[in-house]
Amino acid sequence: MTLAPRTRVLTGITTTGTPHLGNYVGAIRPTVQASRDASTDGFYFLADYHALIKCDDPARIQRSTMEIAASWIAAGLDPDKVTFYRQSDIPEIPELTWFLTCVTGKGLLNRAHAYKAAMDKNHEAGKDTDADVTAGLFMYPVLMGADILMFKAHKVPVGRDQIQHIEMARDMASSFNHLYGEHFVLPEAVIEESVALLPGLDGRKMSKSYDNTIPLFAPAAQMRKQIMGIVTDSKAPGEPKATEGSALFQIYQAFASAEETAALAQAYAEGIAWGDAKEMLFERIDREVSPMREKYESLIAHPAELDRILLAGADKARHLATPFIRELRHAIGLRPLALSTDHKPLAKEDKPALSSFKQYREKDGLFYFKLVNPQGQVLLQSSGFSSPREAGQLIARLQQEGSAALAAAKQHFRSLTPATEQQAMQELEKLSNSDN
Ligand code: TRP
Repeated sequence: MTLAPRTRVLTGITTTGTPHLGNYVGAIRPTVQASRDASTDGFYFLADYHALIKCDDPARIQRSTMEIAASWIAAGLDPDKVTFYRQSDIPEIPELTWFLTCVTGKGLLNRAHAYKAAMDKNHEAGKDTDADVTAGLFMYPVLMGADILMFKAHKVPVGRDQIQHIEMARDMASSFNHLYGEHFVLPEAVIEESVALLPGLDGRKMSKSYDNTIPLFAPAAQMRKQIMGIVTDSKAPGEPKATEGSALFQIYQAFASAEETAALAQAYAEGIAWGDAKEMLFERIDREVSPMREKYESLIAHPAELDRILLAGADKARHLATPFIRELRHAIGLRPLALSTDHKPLAKEDKPALSSFKQYREKDGLFYFKLVNPQGQVLLQSSGFSSPREAGQLIARLQQEGSAALAAAKQHFRSLTPATEQQAMQELEKLSNSDN
């Protein structure tokens, strides 16, 4: 019997805060649930290198790493079934970050939303474009690309704000693959549409930046007190209340079954007092959280146990990362000098060889072509055409008109690094000036 290859699912959690109910409902709970699917191979990690970009408080980084690790395990993530590790325990990650940095167009990074938002903020404040912008923020997408590509992840569950980063990781993977051969898997973002955004204490989205969160594992008495502070309207007991726009109702719904939710809606219509509704909410959440809280508190009390779990996870991860980085180093030419594999002199012939076009069909049924130089390096990679004729016509134009045709047809090509684009232009010029 052959086993179908498992889909590798990977996601990272930045270690800058304390997990709250919004994180639980939006990320922890669905991810732990999905991690039990035997057809997937889960990689979950604490993105502490990323945390350094946002936070320069060492105690907070450490505390957050501990709280997030304990929360995920307490919520049911099984470190024996998945690979659960700390990013900074994998030294191959920063090494891969550099390799990817060298195939990533600076222009691509200029377009990253987070960097653009920082620039826009500076413009509005009348400051210098890059005031207070670290190179870390600028490089954020490359580090994230290394996280994903290192483990050949197929699926990356993320929030909407991260989709662009996954697309960039795909760009980095194809640039690298085109230059050095097929080493990386092109990842896909997975957006969980069904998970609701949880409102916070003030009714806006629950978020650390609004300071309206309810910590997931605060002691029960503290959680109860916070829930009593959720904003409501000023309707008196006995007056019917609207479920629409009620933060309390929405939070309840995120924890309750359909029947329980219907019962609360009924109670709203019948004029339940806000205090009683809040009590119901607290009890419902506590029913789900208190069994996990015990485990959480025991892990927090034994940080050495957490260290042990995370190091065991890093060990598993490095079983893949260490040989893979060796393969990549070899591919890009960081290899023993005594190793004479392909010592072809670069241009020995009197008449320099020309690049050529290669046409092919992919599994998706579409027709593609690429421009390959005499050293076998891919300089241009077309997108798919529905007929071979369309692909052929564009090739003919490129051959006859050279780089001008490329400039006019850029939308037909996968994004390139400026360096390869430059080379492709030069090669097309040579082709259009030759007789064949
Ligand atoms: N940037 C992600 C976030 O803020 C965290 C992250 C870091 C991540 N590396 C990753 C997510 C790799 C998925 C894959 O949510």
